[in-house]
Amino acid sequence: MLNVILCGACGRMGAQVTALAESRNVKIVAGVDVNCRADMPYPIYPSFDLVQEEAAAIIDFSRPEGLHALLAYATEKKMPVVLASTGYNENDRTAIKKAAEIIPVFRSANMSLGVFVLKTLCARAAAMLPEYEIEIIEKHHNQKLDAPSGTAVMLYDAVANEASEAVHGRHGRTQKRQPHEIGMHAIRGGSVAGEHEVGFYGPGEYITLSHLAQDRSIFANGALRAAHFIAGQAPGEYDMAALVEGL
Ligand SMILES: NC(=O)c1ccc[n+]([C@@H]2O[C@H](COP(=O)([O-])OP(=O)(O)OC[C@H]3O[C@@H](n4cnc5c(N)ncnc54)[C@H](O)[C@@H]3O)[C@@H](O)[C@H]2O)c1
Repeated sequence: MLNVILCGACGRMGAQVTALAESRNVKIVAGVDVNCRADMPYPIYPSFDLVQEEAAAIIDFSRPEGLHALLAYATEKKMPVVLASTGYNENDRTAIKKAAEIIPVFRSANMSLGVFVLKTLCARAAAMLPEYEIEIIEKHHNQKLDAPSGTAVMLYDAVANEASEAVHGRHGRTQKRQPHEIGMHAIRGGSVAGEHEVGFYGPGEYITLSHLAQDRSIFANGALRAAHFIAGQAPGEYDMAALVEGL
């Protein structure tokens, strides 16, 4: 069993990780959450400095606001981390890079194996179809805070080149689409766990590659697998490519 501290334990993803942990050989020894009303099967603390338990790794499904406290704790304890929260800014990414000099850090805006395959196929399609125009559409439930989704940004990075420009919606635009644009479109409603579509539009034809998350267990499973992986690594930054392909 791998002992893990779960940050964001009382949220939607925290509940999924808690439910699946034991079946994936993970024991959650403590949770950290700033706002917990749920009754959890392990001690919950509002901040890392109150955590008493020892662990081999941290899994984080919370919010970027908690990142700096989490990294301070993990680097002090030399504890590997799996960062699954989304919405990090430039400052956050710099802090993650710095922490990765001291501890192993696994980060993916999408922990699903299927999305990793989608990203790989999209990068290949973009390289094979340089003249085709790319549009990314994502759909999520009505409680999601950030837009575009971290996964949409990840897919953008997979298909973009130096000339690309992200265009978020086209409201108010009065000119034709330019070839270097990559349209990004966020739909929010209901209980959609996550849907991403990348379209490659050419003359007389178009191709769409898409992924549909039917429930959140795919992300929890990926994060639990990543926790086992990261616990044995040297300091550095790791992602799904490292986990799936050993890159
Ligand atoms: N990487 C992936 O595969 C993946 C998949 C789904 C969701 N996510 C991301 O994971 C995060 C959580 O998603 P969710 O749907 O569970 O959200 P949620 O709002 O249901 O849960 C977030 C939890 O984090 C807690 N929290 C907020 N700020 C905190 C802080 N500073 N310190 C500790 N706890 C804090 C909240 O109280 C809440 O219980 C989001 O950023 C979401 O985009 C990532």
